[in-house]
Order: sequence, then C-alpha cells, then structure tokens
Amino acid sequence: MTEPDIKKGLAGVVVDYTAISKVNPETNSLLYRGYPVQELAATQPLEAVAYLLWNGELPDAEQLAELRLTERAHRAIPDDVRTTIDLVPLDAHPMDEVRTAVSLIGARDLAGSGSVLDASGSPEQNLERSIRLFAVLPAIVAYGQRRRRGLEPVAPRDDLDYAANFLWMTFGEEADEVVVDAFNRSMILYAEHSFNASTFTARVITSTLSDLYSAVVGAIGALKGPLHGGANEAVLHIFDEIGSAENVGAWLDQALAEKRKIMGFGHRVYKRGDSRVPTMKAALDTLVEHYDRPEVAALYDALESEFVARKGIYPNLDYPSGPAYNLIGFDTLTFTPLFVAARVTGWTAHIMEQLTSNTLIRPLSEYNGPDERHIDGYVADT
Ligand code: ACO
Repeated sequence: MTEPDIKKGLAGVVVDYTAISKVNPETNSLLYRGYPVQELAATQPLEAVAYLLWNGELPDAEQLAELRLTERAHRAIPDDVRTTIDLVPLDAHPMDEVRTAVSLIGARDLAGSGSVLDASGSPEQNLERSIRLFAVLPAIVAYGQRRRRGLEPVAPRDDLDYAANFLWMTFGEEADEVVVDAFNRSMILYAEHSFNASTFTARVITSTLSDLYSAVVGAIGALKGPLHGGANEAVLHIFDEIGSAENVGAWLDQALAEKRKIMGFGHRVYKRGDSRVPTMKAALDTLVEHYDRPEVAALYDALESEFVARKGIYPNLDYPSGPAYNLIGFDTLTFTPLFVAARVTGWTAHIMEQLTSNTLIRPLSEYNGPDERHIDGYVADT
C-alpha cells in the first residue's frame, strides 16, 4: 500500500485563491490588495485600511468620511452586551470575554432572521455587520481592561479617529500623537495576513454557509492560542521572566535546555524574518523614546540577537508589539484582544470573499485506528 501524502498542519498546501493579501516570504513582503503594508502603516488610518480590505480600493475622502460616520455611530457597547460581559468572571481570560460579547452581538443582530438557510447573509448585510463589529470591538476590549482594574467604562468620543478613541476609552485621557501613531501602525500590521490559522477557521465556518458572527467567534477561538495571537501576551511573560538584558544568556541556556518555544519568534511562512517586524520595531523605538524606557529596547535587542545567533529563528510581529502595548499601558492580558480588534477587518474581508465563490471546506484524513471489530456481546460494566 502506498503511503498517503499527508500535509500535517496543511503546511505548504495552497487551498484557494485570495485577492486580499499576498505574503511573499522570498522578498519578505506583505501586500494588502497590492499595497505594501509598510506604506499603509506609515500613511493611513486603520479605517482606510479596513475599507481597502473590504472593498479592494482605498477610500476617497467622501468614502472615508462615510465609513467614519458609520463607525462612530456604532462605537458604544449595547447595554445588554455590557451586562453580559459583566457576567464573565473577572479572572477569565479577556479573549473569552470578547468571544462571548461577539457571540451575543451576533445573536441580537440575527434574532428573528429565521431559517439557517439565510444565515450567510447578502454582501451588503455582511459589509454592514463587518463595519459594526469593527466599530464596537474597541469599546469591548477597553471596557474589559477597565473592568479588571475596577474602573468605570469611558464613553466613546466621536470627535476622535479610531485609534485615538480606542486609547481614550481604555485610559480615559487623550493619548499623545506619537502614541496614537504607533498604536495605529500596530493595528494596521495586525489587520490581515492571508490564510493564517484564525482566518482559515473563519473561512471554514463560512464555507458551511453559517453566519459572519459565528465565523468571527470561531476565529477568536483560534487566535487565542499561544502559537498564534496569544504569542504577543506570551512575549511579555518572557520579558518579565528575564528581567533585564544581562540575564538573557543564562535565561536562554535554560529555556533551550528545557526545549521551550521562545514566544514571538518563528513563523510558518516567513523563515528569514517577518515582513511586519521592522515597521513595528520602529514604532516600538518611538515609544521607548517617548516613555524614556531604554531598558526595554536593551532587553528586546539582547534577546533577539542572542536567539537569532543560536537558532537562526527570527522575530515575528508579536515580538515588538508585546512590549509596545506594554509601554502604552495595556495590561498583558489585553494584548490578544487588541489583535482581535485589528484582525476583524481581515477576517470579515475573507468571510465575504469566501462567499463570493464558496465551496465547502472539507479535507480528508487517513484512518490509523483499530481494524474493523465487532461488539460480540460486550456490555459496559456500570
Ligand atoms: N522557539 C524555539 N524553537 C522554535 C521556535 C521558537 N519560537 N519556533 C520554531 N522553533 C523550532 C521548533 O522547535 C522546530 O525545531 P525542530 O525541527 O528541532 O523540532 C523548528 O524550529 C520548526 O518549528 P515548527 O514549530 O515546526 O515550525 P512551524 O512552522 O510549525 O511553527 C510557529 C511556526 C508555530 C509560529 C513556531 O515558530 C512557534 O511556535 N513560535 C512561537 C509562537 C509564536 O510566536 N507565535 C506567533 C506566530 S505569528 C502571529 O501570530 C502574529
């Protein structure tokens, strides 16, 4: 019998076309709808990038104004969603809180919509749902952090753009421009990355003609894991363990002896460095300077150079974004929910793309369990 050609983890398998983003590990580049992500991060607000991902083109002034109007109108958390968030234990992971909130938002929105046959929605409905989720997620994430700190929620401000308002709702004060800019860049870098695990999860769910909210809830579940989005949180735990740059060598000796994965390093697609890291590292550098925290950069550089020298494995986006979010003042547990708020743009773009030429995603497996056998009078001993 010939051995089946099993592609564990679907590594190297091309499962479909996408016009949303192109990751090229050879040239170390990432394009959103043709535009280099570095250019977008340097010049655009996240709202414009969201528009680009959803519609294929950057918005003109009128289109951006219209999107912003809708986004600002849907920033507040509905009361019953907030009440439900309050039911989530304070010591639950905030990703569970975000997942629960999105699930309820979906149930509210789809209530009375009838049969599952209509679940997948029209392109117009899905675009509207995408914008509304994009609009409300910052308030959910910000509220989560404030709730854990015993603080009252801060109402959104419709005179502030997305990134500035996100920081306002989290900290209750207007952030400096340099901080808003670094945060906006990070959100753009996180917005989209082709068929990563969470996006693929969303596409699998969508391929059954389920609804957009179910697909986003599933994607949040996939993103939570430390091999994917959870790594930005894990990077901070590592920084806390190491303490300072001079401890890196000894810490790494032990971590490698214990065969630990060093979070924030390595990538399934990029083997010679993640295309997003230089832009995010530059944003981290501006924050280090702004907050006058050179020891953070020292630890960052020491761990990177030591680990790359020993293993030849390069940092991924989570490596600079973890310390950047820490400097801004986000709790470590809030980092992966920030990733959700950004990536919801990419997820929903993929959900809509999947529906334009849908085929049920259903791979095969090779059975390696027991040969056929029979009950033969077996009774469980209860
Ligand atoms: N630390 C230590 N060793 C590593 C790391 C790491 N971060 N990454 C890869 N390796 C090693 C593996 O142990 C393996 O070694 P071996 O061949 O001796 O067994 C080899 O490199 C290949 O690693 P795989 O895990 O098989 O590579 P894969 O492509 O499946 O994994 C992944 C990619 C999951 C991202 C991996 O590099 C990893 O676990 N990194 C840490 C978690 C992380 O940072 N995730 C964020 C991903 S990017 C994002 O979501 C924005």
